[in-house]
Amino acid sequence: MANVVVVGAQWGDEGKGKIVDWLSERADVIARFQGGHNAGHTLVVDGTVYKLHALPSGVVRGGKLSVIGNGVVLDPWHLMREIETIRAQGVQISPETLMIAENTPLILPIHGELDRAREEAASTGTKIGTTGRGIGPAYEDKVGRRSVRVADLADDATLEARVDRALQHHNPLRRGLGIAPVDRDRLLADLRQIAPQVLEYAAPVWKVMNEKRRAGKRILFEGAQGALLDIDFGTYPFVTSSNVIAGQAATGVGIGPGAIDFVLGIVKAYTTRVGEGPFPTELEDADGQRLGERGHEFGTTTGRKRRCGWFDAVLVRQTCATSGVNGIALTKLDVLDGFETLRICTGYALDGEVLDYLPTAAEQQARCVPVYEEMPGWSETTEGARSWADLPANAIKYVRRVEELIQCPVAMLSTSPEREDTILVTDPFAD
Ligand code: GDP
Ligand code: IMO
Ligand code: MG
Repeated sequence: MANVVVVGAQWGDEGKGKIVDWLSERADVIARFQGGHNAGHTLVVDGTVYKLHALPSGVVRGGKLSVIGNGVVLDPWHLMREIETIRAQGVQISPETLMIAENTPLILPIHGELDRAREEAASTGTKIGTTGRGIGPAYEDKVGRRSVRVADLADDATLEARVDRALQHHNPLRRGLGIAPVDRDRLLADLRQIAPQVLEYAAPVWKVMNEKRRAGKRILFEGAQGALLDIDFGTYPFVTSSNVIAGQAATGVGIGPGAIDFVLGIVKAYTTRVGEGPFPTELEDADGQRLGERGHEFGTTTGRKRRCGWFDAVLVRQTCATSGVNGIALTKLDVLDGFETLRICTGYALDGEVLDYLPTAAEQQARCVPVYEEMPGWSETTEGARSWADLPANAIKYVRRVEELIQCPVAMLSTSPEREDTILVTDPFAD
């Protein structure tokens, strides 16, 4: 198998960064295909922590090509700051190792301002709990055909025209929200100043990706967020503004869907969510508290406390289906160490029936009551385990039950934040 797509199979923060970093040893190209710096991917290599938001997690290894595809929305000022931060940690980043698609839409300061103003104005129940990074408004402008894209930075007349087109929409909108009109000259000056730095990395990514594919290079697609935050299949409207599921990997860089050989779903051994929205297995008791503390469940991007709950096999079975997941990487198994009893959600009780999927209607979602089965926990530690032989019998039983319920095999297991505390069961890149 040449090309692997990594996608989050829950509400994000499943450990995609760690797994992408681990797999990137086997890959030639690592490509982000959606989302933006709302993502926060944490890597730990020999005790050194790297936090990546816009950069693909492959950058840390060196010698690989990292790609930011057109499906991403890119804040150029953030990117340059992130490059500097990561460089200061000793990582080399150059136009030879990082490429940005010329047709990538930019996130401008006006997008973040709009995102935050809307959230502030929203009442309880309508607030999304966004990261405030301007992701939604930037995607709105892309679909509304008024984005400034990377290629527009190369020509001043085009840049002015694009900015004016965007402001024609944004200024009336801002007036309605009580925000001052955009300072056009300042925005243009800021864009002109950042332009040469971004253009250094600009490339026809679709062409490069197709050439790499023809040359037999291995491509690793790095998803951000998780399938339950997908704009179509997530818990709408409490979702992000992009398609997150595996099908997006192809359109997000400009390669045919046939290029995808293996889809690896990243699945946390329990469930977390940051931001608002339904969460059927959420725990607001001591068990939830314990998961949050043992799992250090605080957001990488915003530092917000993540909501925690039991493993929901219904949702993961569903997300494995919508992304065509071939195998999962089950992460944070170690966080479950020491629980006497574990619970897994196997269905939802609704109106006298048990459903094996989450209904789409919000009103029904709110009334779904999880049906649980219980499993015995284990008192031994799994932290740092690097082979099946190191796992207690009850931990293996838990993993096997998860596989059965989600109808998808475990390809990898992760037992700590460290790169090498990983168990490979099936190599996603293997032929
Ligand atoms: P991502 O957004 O999917 O890349 O995940 P994040 O990096 O936002 O959150 C996952 C957190 O769990 C990070 O702090 C990782 O270092 C950490 N992590 C990843 N895998 C494991 C694991 O197997 N065990 C433990 N205890 N922590 C892990
Ligand atoms: P990674 O890649 C977890 C959530 C936000 C909010 C919703 C919409 O680290 O897994 P947005 O700013 O995207 O408009 O916010 O989506 N969200 C994430 N939650 N992990 C992420 O990324 C997320 N990116 C966005 O909390 O609920
Ligand atoms: Mg994250």
